[in-house]
Amino acid sequence: MPSKPEHYLPLSTADNGAVDADTSIYGSNIQHPRQAPGRGRRLRIGIWVSLALLISVGFWGYGYRPIRCSSAFRPNSDLQNAAPTVPSLGLKKKIQQGWGPYSPYFPSAKYSTPPVNCDIIQVNLLQRHGARYPTAKASEDIQKSVKKLRKAKHHKHKSVKFLENYKWNLGQDDLVPFGAAQSFEAGWVHFKRYEHLIDEGNLPFVRASGADRVIMSALNWTAGFAAANKQVYTPKLSVIISETANDTLDNAMCPACERSVVDADAWRAKFTVPIEHRLKKTLPGVKLSPSDITNIMSLCAFETVAYEEPSPFCGMFTTHEFQSYEHDEGLKKYYYTGYGNEFGRVQGVGYVNELLARLTGTPVDDHTQTNSTLDLSPETFPLNRTFYADFSHDNTMVAIYGALGLFPQKQAPSNSKIEHHRTWRMSRLVPFSSRMTTEKLQCNVPGGTKDFVRILVNDVVQPLGFCGAGDDGLCELEAFVASQAYARGGGGGDWEKCGTVLQ
Ligand SMILES: *[C@@H]1O[C@H](CO)[C@@H](O)[C@H](O)[C@H]1NC(C)=O
Ligand SMILES: *[C@@H]1O[C@H](CO)[C@@H](O)[C@H](O)[C@H]1NC(C)=O
Ligand SMILES: *[C@@H]1O[C@H](CO)[C@@H](O)[C@H](O)[C@H]1NC(C)=O
Ligand SMILES: *[C@@H]1O[C@H](CO)[C@@H](O)[C@H](O)[C@H]1NC(C)=O
Repeated sequence: MPSKPEHYLPLSTADNGAVDADTSIYGSNIQHPRQAPGRGRRLRIGIWVSLALLISVGFWGYGYRPIRCSSAFRPNSDLQNAAPTVPSLGLKKKIQQGWGPYSPYFPSAKYSTPPVNCDIIQVNLLQRHGARYPTAKASEDIQKSVKKLRKAKHHKHKSVKFLENYKWNLGQDDLVPFGAAQSFEAGWVHFKRYEHLIDEGNLPFVRASGADRVIMSALNWTAGFAAANKQVYTPKLSVIISETANDTLDNAMCPACERSVVDADAWRAKFTVPIEHRLKKTLPGVKLSPSDITNIMSLCAFETVAYEEPSPFCGMFTTHEFQSYEHDEGLKKYYYTGYGNEFGRVQGVGYVNELLARLTGTPVDDHTQTNSTLDLSPETFPLNRTFYADFSHDNTMVAIYGALGLFPQKQAPSNSKIEHHRTWRMSRLVPFSSRMTTEKLQCNVPGGTKDFVRILVNDVVQPLGFCGAGDDGLCELEAFVASQAYARGGGGGDWEKCGTVLQ
C-alpha cells in the first residue's frame, strides 16, 4: 500500500465538513475508519483477530488491520486458507456506490442457484481488473484541479482545512492492494461456487488483456482460487493478449470511436452548480470548472481505495452529489462504448464470438478483434474446458454488454435528471472487479436433456428476453446463439467503419 502523505488527516465521524449531519458519509457504527469491524461477522472476526495479533502479521480480512501493511498485497501463507474478505473502506455503502466505475465491486443480488432440474456444465467468467490508481491522463487532470483548489487563501470550513497540508501521493494505472484483494476474493468465491466443475484435467483456462493491472488481477484471482482448495488446483494465467495487437479483451481497435462529450456535459454542467457555489464560499478565490469538480470527486474514490480509509476529499460532498457523479460517469460510458455511440458495441463482438465458440464447442468465427492465430490453436484457445476466466477493462465490458444486448435502454439516459429506476448504473455494471458470468446448463426436460444458458452480471441474473427467457433467466442454448445475430454477423457492417489502427 502506498504510504499516506504525512499530513493526511481523515475526518472523524463527528466532523462531516460541508456535509449535513443527516447525510453523513461515514458508516454509522464507525469510530475511526480504521477500526471498523465488518458488521455481523463478529464471532469469526474475534477468532481471526486474535490469531492475527498472535502471529503479528498484517491481516487484511474483515476490514480490521492491527498492523498497517505497507507493502503490496500478498496473501499471507499461514492465513491464505481462511475465507478472505476485502478490507472495509470505512465509508457508507451509499457513498461507495456513488463512484460509478470507481466503486468497489459489490454483489448486486444474492447469487441464486439454477433450477433444480439443471446442472451447470460450463462457466465463462469475464472480470474487470480490481481497484487501481487513476490512469496517467486522469492523474494529470486531477492534479491540475487540486492545484486550483489549493489556490484558496483561506479555508473557511473544517471540511477543507486538510488542503493546507495536502500532498499528492498516488501512483498511476496500476492495481492497488485493495484491488488485488478484490481479485483474490473473487477467485476464492468462484472456486467455492463452481467446485464441481474442477478437477486435475479441468482447471480454469485463464486469459488477460496485456495491461499490468489486468495481468495482476488475473494472477491474484488464480491465487485466490488455489487458496480456496488448499493449493490442490492451481490454475495458471495461460494467455496474455497484447493491447497493441488484436485483442478481444480491450477496446483499442476502433479509431473511429471517440468519446462524445456533448451529451454527457449538459448533466455535469448542471449538477455541479450548487457544489461550485458552496466551494466558492468555503474556499474564497477558487475558480473551478464542472470537470474540476468531478475530478476532485473521483479523487475521493481513488484515495480511498489506495489508502483503505476515507479520503478527506469525500467529506467535501454529499451522498446525493455522489449519486449525481455516478450518473455523470454513466453518461460518459453510454456515449463512449455504450449504446449511445455507433462504434460502441461493435467492440464487444470479438468476445461474444469467442463466447459462442466455447458454448457450442465449435471454432471461433469472427473477423473483428480476434487474433486468429491465438483462437485457432487449442493451446491458446481450447474448446474442451469447463471453466474459462478472462480479465479485461470497464469500457470493453460495456461494449460487450451492448453486443450481447444486455441492459437495453429504451432511450438515452436523461442528461437533466437522475431517473431512479434506471438500469444504466456504472456501480452495478462495471465497478472495480466487476464480473459477468455466462453459465451453460444442462437441464432435464421431458424426453431427455437440453442445453441452456444464463448470464449474471455482478450476481444479478439478467433477463434474457431477447432469447425467450422466463423469470429464471434461462434461454435454450440454440435460441441464445440465434439471438446473437449482431455478433455472428461481425457487427452488421459497423466494424468496417471503425478504421484501422496505425501501428
Ligand atoms: C483438451 O484437449 C487437449 C488437446 O487438444 C488435451 O490435451 C486435453 O487433455 C483436453 N482436456 C480435457 C479436459 O479434455
Ligand atoms: C497480486 O497483485 C499484486 C499487485 O497489486 C502483485 O504484486 C502480486 O504479485 C499479485 N499476487 C499474485 C499472487 O500474483
Ligand atoms: C496474434 O497473436 C500472436 C501470438 O501471441 C502474435 O504473435 C501476433 O502478433 C498476434 N497478431 C495480431 C495481429 O494481433
Ligand atoms: C487482426 O484484426 C484485423 C482487423 O479485424 C484482421 O484483418 C486480421 O486478420 C486480424 N489478424 C489476426 C492474426 O487475426
